[in-house]
Amino acid sequence: MQKTGTTTRTTEKKYTIRLLRDDQNEIEHVWEMVVRNMSRAMISGVTLKGIRQPLVIAAAFTVFALLYRYLGDFAMSGAITIVVSVCVCLVNTYYGLYYGLYSDKLCPEAGQNMFAYYGKERRRCWVAESDRKIIAAVGIQEKTSTDNSPDAGQASVAVLQRLVVEPEYRRMGVADALIKTALEFCKEHNYEEVILATSEVQHDVMRYYYKRGFVEIRHSTFDDLFPLFELKMHVFRLDLKDGSYQ
Ligand SMILES: CC(C)(COP(=O)(O)OP(=O)(O)OC[C@H]1O[C@@H](n2cnc3c(N)ncnc32)[C@H](O)[C@@H]1OP(=O)(O)O)[C@@H](O)C(=O)NCCC(=O)NCCS
Repeated sequence: MQKTGTTTRTTEKKYTIRLLRDDQNEIEHVWEMVVRNMSRAMISGVTLKGIRQPLVIAAAFTVFALLYRYLGDFAMSGAITIVVSVCVCLVNTYYGLYYGLYSDKLCPEAGQNMFAYYGKERRRCWVAESDRKIIAAVGIQEKTSTDNSPDAGQASVAVLQRLVVEPEYRRMGVADALIKTALEFCKEHNYEEVILATSEVQHDVMRYYYKRGFVEIRHSTFDDLFPLFELKMHVFRLDLKDGSYQ
């Protein structure tokens, strides 16, 4: 990996890491980027998980049997059953995403001004900019009692949030540069560990955190987000004292 000593790195594309500005267009753009990338990963992952649920499979067999009895056409009955099943799973996905994103279940800062939210003393949001375009972001805030950690409320624990890199800028070290900046901030502000939670369907993010020395400490579930099943969350931790960031 090409390590960066500063916040600017040149590969095929050049980018700079800086703090989120108090600019309404920029704030809206960053939030849209977070929601779009998170939704992209979750729509396919959550819908596929829905299709594998025993309840959905049993309902699909019942629908197929009824259709076949009345239509007498195997292919037509099968096609209608598949379309209905996928539609049910998509409704489940969109319901959960809408409820999660707009009722602060998944994102506590949803509906708030991100600059104000991250402007408090021990919080920050950084963005990566390339050719005057925001291409990535990450946020740090202190842990609150609602965060996915057994040690709720500890002043020494930071929560890493909203790590997202636009697809065309991935595998260029942008996430590493953002995380490096965020971890330096955490050390300067006397945080001793960083935790984060990511859902079971966000495989690329999980692989990234494993690779960079974050350790999975536990699972939790959102049992009221999606009507068809519980969404498993993986909670990761990085100890800032032992230098385990790789
Ligand atoms: C995970 C993610 C942040 C990685 O960003 P990135 O800029 O591509 O990562 P980097 O280029 O800094 O890569 C750093 C290291 O992680 C590895 N890595 C990155 N993505 C990986 C993946 N999907 N699988 C395995 N390893 C990965 C790289 O190979 C690199 O390791 P190396 O230096 O040993 O080769 C990016 O894929 C992403 O934004 N995914 C979607 C995130 C999302 O849904 N966010 C919403 C959260 S609210």
